[in-house]
Amino acid sequence: MDALFAPEYEELRSVVSSLAEKQIAPHAADVDQNSRYPIEAAKALQDAGLAAAHVPVEYGGQGADALATVIIIEEVARFCAASSLIPAVNKLGSVPVLLAGNSAQKQKYLTALAKGQGFSYCLSESEAGSDAAAMKTKAVKDGNDWVLSGSKKWISNAGISDFYTVLASTDSSKGAKGISAFIVEKSDSGISFGAPEKKMGFKGSPTREVYFDQVRLPADRLLGTEGAGFSLAMQTLDHTRITIAAQAVGIAQGAFEIAKKYAHERKQFGKEIFDFQAVQFMLANMAMQIAAARQLTYAAAVKSERAEADLTFYSAACKCFATDVAMNVTTDAVQVLGGYGYVNDYPVERMMRDAKLTQIYEGTNQIQRLVMARNLETL
Ligand code: CAA
Repeated sequence: MDALFAPEYEELRSVVSSLAEKQIAPHAADVDQNSRYPIEAAKALQDAGLAAAHVPVEYGGQGADALATVIIIEEVARFCAASSLIPAVNKLGSVPVLLAGNSAQKQKYLTALAKGQGFSYCLSESEAGSDAAAMKTKAVKDGNDWVLSGSKKWISNAGISDFYTVLASTDSSKGAKGISAFIVEKSDSGISFGAPEKKMGFKGSPTREVYFDQVRLPADRLLGTEGAGFSLAMQTLDHTRITIAAQAVGIAQGAFEIAKKYAHERKQFGKEIFDFQAVQFMLANMAMQIAAARQLTYAAAVKSERAEADLTFYSAACKCFATDVAMNVTTDAVQVLGGYGYVNDYPVERMMRDAKLTQIYEGTNQIQRLVMARNLETL
């Protein structure tokens, strides 16, 4: 775990933190209140090479390893969780290409991603959420082409992204083993998008349904081999649930910092509320939980980089733990601020709303516990 303490990671943190504070934080409240895409953040991240920093250098990216990517997402989420979904979704959509793409697919799509074309991930459907293998979207072979039909739900940054990794059944008689992965382009004929969902939080990141009406895909859009899509989808989540943990750590850290500052500024009964042990203990608990969540997340990131055998467990564990921590910490931060925490004068109410989603997406925390339980023998 020496990597945790390598100075280049702290240098990266400082660069991202400063960029996020100057160029992303000032727009975070407006992005939330108006449910608008964070264009300022998208531009700032892209200009700094941080929107898809995980893309290898040979395709024009920064070649950021999993730990560096986690630090980028964490520091952006400290100020604006919706903006932190830009690098997180770009990683989620493109990990299948990194894991299973052929050299032509990598060249084309990763290069475009590094240049700023977003990449979303289409797994869930209206009737296939936790039970992802129950998907109905299908791809039928027609000559050398595939014809894709169906719909996907809860797709982050849908409509914004140029590319979509789409999981579809290519042989319904085989269940999970009859699922394949495809790359779909926004410009493909027959793809369309639903209206943005009206969400509790993460309002700056559009979540839409994606519809596929007989979308014709040439053979070279198949990712990996036919029937290997579900396993690829699960392997992808092993690498990317860690980015959701990073988001959660960042949200929690942001809320903690505001609560700590407020506790020193706010005076009641003639002294700072920080001087009351009840408040001190809340802050101490927040700091302790965040520290534990951060270390577990970094450990999982290092395992992701090394593709270690217990990655599936660690990925689920850090996602589950850190997102529960984010919910606890943001709720307590609102409590420390009292009435001021409950109104939008301070960002903590937004952070509390944002934290909630992290317990739900990329697999509910109930599914994370199921995944951990199924992988106990790897420990
Ligand atoms: N790596 C490689 N292969 C894996 C795997 C992994 N981590 N996990 C499962 N597989 C393989 C299994 O080995 C199995 O193949 P074999 O039969 O050859 O062994 C096959 O996949 C099926 O596995 P299961 O029998 O375990 O499948 P299941 O139907 O019981 O489902 C599940 C497992 C863990 C519940 C899975 O459905 C799941 O993760 N559900 C949650 C879905 C999810 O996380 N959705 C998130 C959507 S993305 C999102 O939210 C993004 C966003 O907006 C930001």
